[in-house]
Amino acid sequence: MSPRRILVTSALPYANGPIHLGHLVEYLQTDIWVRFQRLQGNECRYFCADDTHGAAIMISARKHGVTEAEFIERMNRAHQEDFARFGVSFDHFGSTHSDSNRQLCGEFWKALRGSDLIAESDVEQLYDVQEGLFLADRFVKGTCPVCSSADQYGDNCEKCGATYSPTELKNPKSTYSGTTPELRKAKHLFVQVERRHAFLDEWTQAEGRLPAETANYLKGFFLNNPLRDWDISRPAPYFGFEIPDSPGNYWYVWFDAPIGYLASTQDWCAKTGQQLSDWWQSDATEIYHFIGKDIVYFHALFWPVMLQTAGYSLPRHIHVHGFLTVNGEKMSKSKGTQINASTYLEHLDPSYLRYYYASKLGPGAEDIDLDLDDFCQKVNSTLLAKVINLASRSARFIAAGGLSPEYPEDEGLFESTAAAAAEIAAAYEGFDYAKAVRLIMALADRANEYIDRKQPWSLKKQAGKEREVQDVCTVCLNVFRQLCIYLAPVLPELADKAAALLQTPISNWADAQTPTLGHPIGTFTHLMQRVDPQKVQQMVTDSTVAQRPDEPTSATWADDDAALAAEPLADTCSIDDFAKVDLRVARVIAAEPVKEARKLLKLTVSLGGTHTRTVFAGIKAAYEAESLVGRLVVVVANLAPRQMKFGTSEGMVIAAGPGGAEVFVLSPDSGAKPGQRVH
Ligand code: 2FM
Ligand code: ZN
Repeated sequence: MSPRRILVTSALPYANGPIHLGHLVEYLQTDIWVRFQRLQGNECRYFCADDTHGAAIMISARKHGVTEAEFIERMNRAHQEDFARFGVSFDHFGSTHSDSNRQLCGEFWKALRGSDLIAESDVEQLYDVQEGLFLADRFVKGTCPVCSSADQYGDNCEKCGATYSPTELKNPKSTYSGTTPELRKAKHLFVQVERRHAFLDEWTQAEGRLPAETANYLKGFFLNNPLRDWDISRPAPYFGFEIPDSPGNYWYVWFDAPIGYLASTQDWCAKTGQQLSDWWQSDATEIYHFIGKDIVYFHALFWPVMLQTAGYSLPRHIHVHGFLTVNGEKMSKSKGTQINASTYLEHLDPSYLRYYYASKLGPGAEDIDLDLDDFCQKVNSTLLAKVINLASRSARFIAAGGLSPEYPEDEGLFESTAAAAAEIAAAYEGFDYAKAVRLIMALADRANEYIDRKQPWSLKKQAGKEREVQDVCTVCLNVFRQLCIYLAPVLPELADKAAALLQTPISNWADAQTPTLGHPIGTFTHLMQRVDPQKVQQMVTDSTVAQRPDEPTSATWADDDAALAAEPLADTCSIDDFAKVDLRVARVIAAEPVKEARKLLKLTVSLGGTHTRTVFAGIKAAYEAESLVGRLVVVVANLAPRQMKFGTSEGMVIAAGPGGAEVFVLSPDSGAKPGQRVH
C-alpha cells in the first residue's frame, strides 16, 4: 500500500493564558495519532497556531501594560515551550496574527462576497464607555431577568438555566471595568449560512465524517431548523484584522482562527518549499481536525461552508473529544486542580501524563478524569512494573557478549507479540488508545510470566548457565522492544531509550516483526522513575490559588485611591537603603494558631534545605492555618529576632492591607524557589 498523505490539526489555543492539563488532552491525543501515522510510514504533517485575536486579548495586554503584539509573542513562546516539553510534534506552530493569515482571510472573504453570502445589518450591543469597547455576552454580568439571581452572565443564568440577551439583564455591569454599560448600535456583517443548508445536511451526515453522536446532535439541534446568519464582524476597537472593504470593522476571531490552520501550513510550505495546494486543494491529502466537543458548531457548520466557498478541501474527518475533570470534578484553581503544563513539568515526567491520558482515551467524546491517586497507581503498577521492569530485570544480567546470535526458543512469545501488531494498529487508527494500551499491557503480562518463570537473576548465580541467561535475556529484551514500538506513539522518549539500549533504531511499526540479535547492548540506565505521590501533592499545592469567598471570578476592577489616602506614600529612600532589607522567597512548611493570641499564627517557613525560621504573623483573622501550608511567601530574612510572649519571631512575612480580616499575604509566581532573594 502506498503511504497516505495526511494533514492533521488541533484546535488553536487562545493566546490569553497558559497551557494547562485540560488543553493537553487534545494536543496529546492528536500527537499520539500523528506519531502513529508516521510510524506506519505515512506522510503525516501536524499544524497548529496560537489563536491571537479578540477583545479578551486586548484587555489582557492592557492589564499587563504591553502591546497586543508583545503579549501574544510572549504567550507564543511559552506555549511552544510547553508543547515541546510534552513531546507534541508539530510540523509548524504559527500564529493567527501573521501575514499569511491576513492574506488567506482576504481570499476567503472575497470568495464569500463573490458568492453573495454576506449580508449587513445593525446590531445593538452593550458598550463599556470607560474601556471603550463593545461587550461580548460573557463580559457582562448582572441580575437574571427571570429568577433575579445576582451575578449572572449575559447569555444565561447558572441558577435557573434561562437564556437571554445581555440587554435583558437587570443592573448589567461590565466585567472589565465594573461600570454600567450603555446600549449602542453598530453595523455588523453576517454569513448567510442557511443558503448552504442542503450542503451541510449532506456533508455532516456523511458516513465517517463526524462521530455518530456529534452528527446526530447537529441534525437534532441545528439542521432541523433554518440556520441563523453568522455574525462575523466586530466594530473597532478590536484586536484582529480590519476587513478590507468595510473600514472600522474587524473579522470576528472565529472567522480568522480556522483559516489559521491553512496559514500555519502556508508558513511551513514557505520554509520547506512545499505547495499549499498539495495540502489543501488535493484529493490525495486527507485532512483531520481534532477538536473539543464545545467547538463542534464552528467546525462542522461554518468552517465547511467557508472552505467550500473558497475552493479548499473539506476535512475527511473531525475527531471530537470530551473535557478533562480532575479527581472527578471540574478543574478548580482554588483546589489546585487547574494545573498548568509548566507547573506539572516542575514536578513530574511528561511521559506519565502521555501514558495516563492514552490509557483513558477512547474513540468517543466522553469526558476523561485525571484521578491523581489512580494516576500514581496506574503509572507505577502497569507502565513501570510491567514494561520498564522487563528491561531492568533482563538488561543487567546480559553479559558483555550481548544478545544471542540466533533467536532462542521462547514458547511462542515473540511471535504472538508480533501477531498483535494489526489489532493494536487498528485501535490507534480508530482513536481507541485505551484499547491499544490494554492490548499492549496484556502482552506485557505474558512476558512477565515468562521472566518470572525463567528467573534470569537466579540462573546467573548458577554455574554453566551463561548461555541460558543470555537466551532468556535476549527474549525479554526483544519483547520489551516490541512493546516499546507499540507504545512509541504514546511514549516516544521511551522508544528512543529502548533503541539506544538495544542499539537498534525504532523507525517503523513493522520493526516489531523482527528480533534484533547478535550484538552487545548499550549501557543500562534508568529508563523511567516511579511516580512519587509527594511530588504530585506538591504540584497541586503549587497550583492552588487562594481564592477569598468575596473575590470576583472574572477580572473586574474599578480601583479607587482609598488605600493610598489611608496610608500616604513614605519618603523617598535610596536603592542602598532598600538593599539593606533582605527579602527572600520562603515556603510555609507548618502553620498553627497561637491559642492565647487573638491575631497570631505561628508559621515555620523554609528558606530551602535545612534553613527554617519561626515567624509569628498577625494574620489569624484572615487565614486558616492549614490553607497556608505549602504556599510560597516573601519574608524579611534579616529582621532582628524579636522576643515575643510565645517565642522568638525570626523574620516577617510580607502582607498588604489594613489588618484584621483584611490582610493579603504576598506570593511570588509559581516557579520561584525558597531562598531566592527578592530584588
Ligand atoms: O476554543 C478555543 O480554544 C479556540 N481558540 C479554538 C480555535 S480552533 C480553530 F478554529 F482555529
Ligand atoms: Zn435565573
